[in-house]
Amino acid sequence: MTGTRSHWLPDRWINHAKRPGVAYRAQINHNEMMQGGRLYRANVLHTPRPDRFEIVERGYVHVDAQGYVTGVYGELPAGLGECEVEDFGDTLLIPAMNDLHVHAPQYRNQGMAMDLELLPWLSTYTFPEEARYSDRRYAEVMYRRFVRDLWRHGTMRASIFATIHKETAELLATILDEAGMGGLIGVVGMDTGCPDNLRNSTEEVVNDTLSLIDHTSGMPLVSAIVTPRFVPSCSCHMLTELGKTAQRYRIPVQSHLSENQGEVALVRKLFPDSSCYGAVYDRFGLFGQTPTLMAHCCYTDGEELELMKKNHVFVVHCPISNCDLGSGIAPIRRFLDAGLPVALGSDMAGGHDLSLFRVMQSAIQMSKLLYARTEGEWSFLSLSEAFHLATKSGGAFFGKVGCFEPGYSFDALVIDDSELNRHDDGLAGSAYTVRQRMERYIYLGDDRQIVHRFCQGREITEPRLSDL
Ligand code: GUN
Ligand code: FE
Repeated sequence: MTGTRSHWLPDRWINHAKRPGVAYRAQINHNEMMQGGRLYRANVLHTPRPDRFEIVERGYVHVDAQGYVTGVYGELPAGLGECEVEDFGDTLLIPAMNDLHVHAPQYRNQGMAMDLELLPWLSTYTFPEEARYSDRRYAEVMYRRFVRDLWRHGTMRASIFATIHKETAELLATILDEAGMGGLIGVVGMDTGCPDNLRNSTEEVVNDTLSLIDHTSGMPLVSAIVTPRFVPSCSCHMLTELGKTAQRYRIPVQSHLSENQGEVALVRKLFPDSSCYGAVYDRFGLFGQTPTLMAHCCYTDGEELELMKKNHVFVVHCPISNCDLGSGIAPIRRFLDAGLPVALGSDMAGGHDLSLFRVMQSAIQMSKLLYARTEGEWSFLSLSEAFHLATKSGGAFFGKVGCFEPGYSFDALVIDDSELNRHDDGLAGSAYTVRQRMERYIYLGDDRQIVHRFCQGREITEPRLSDL
């Protein structure tokens, strides 16, 4: 495979990220790239590095015809005079959100059923709802609402758990593709400790994953991901074959890891010979042998942390869910200090909020609880670090996604936060800075202030819902 590579992805992993511009990019030089395309003007804010925001007030982002950023400029750059300029005025222009762990078929349970811990929560509330997704009509209505609401909240790419049902998982892929948004969809594998109406065989989940690969083959931004639900719901046979499938077809993997103490104890009982929970996935080739997302990691430390680091396994931090289900507080500072790749996830409906801005806020708040508990030894997440997790750090799983450096996909949001700035009426003598406006939007804003959304350079309009 040729093409630009993410900072750490080995070449053999590159083809999981669908990037139609790669061939084109290899053939033409920079000057040619600068011709044509479009310029967008606004207050540009992104985080090429986690430790600070890069801000260009009333700056320009140039996007080439394939939807890739060629540069950010403070002044109208020479040679781009011919370019069409879209001026968004005094708005914020930021990278779009990436949700690396979300359950589309749990959407109806949003904001309820949070009175149980993980294992009883799954069997009491979650499995019965997921079982409904054998019904195509139900799935179509709910999945369209889900994708529309991802769009609303400015999430342009997501790694999504569907259910065991192939037909409706394919439908979800189609809906996301039709919307022009990006993501990975997994048919969930589960054959142990689950109800009969929500159980598939190893053969089924492997074949259905292969069907989903075929189904998404013509989709530029949507593809399949191998998805064992978690260790306690998969037989060794299922884990073995899913690991082989991921490696044979070189597709990524997503699952749950060390979320809750009861779950960790159960895995220890099921696999007494494994040194840690992560080692079970590793034994089956599901832990970084291909790009891997592991959600939660509240109890990951020691050997498990080292194994994740060695295998470049992504931690997907889901702080709202960890709070809502009483699971724990993931030690994100330790993961960042160790150099692990970290992303953010809403974990709908373990988490009650689909907005990655709310997830950022929760990540900061949870890190401050750990800061207090460690008496300042673990520093809390800064605003720019949380923003980086939701944009460039998580976006890396999809390739060059999540900031406005040259070569990155133009996935972007335009935020008109004027209604949040009503104190800028001269009374205080000074207006909010762009950095302060970003902070206030993260804490106080919502979908109503997002006025434009772009994915891979295309403006994404509101996805349609289905008629009831
Ligand atoms: N572990 C296994 N399945 C699930 C799920 O659906 N949600 C969460 N939060 N954890 C899980
Ligand atoms: Fe989850």
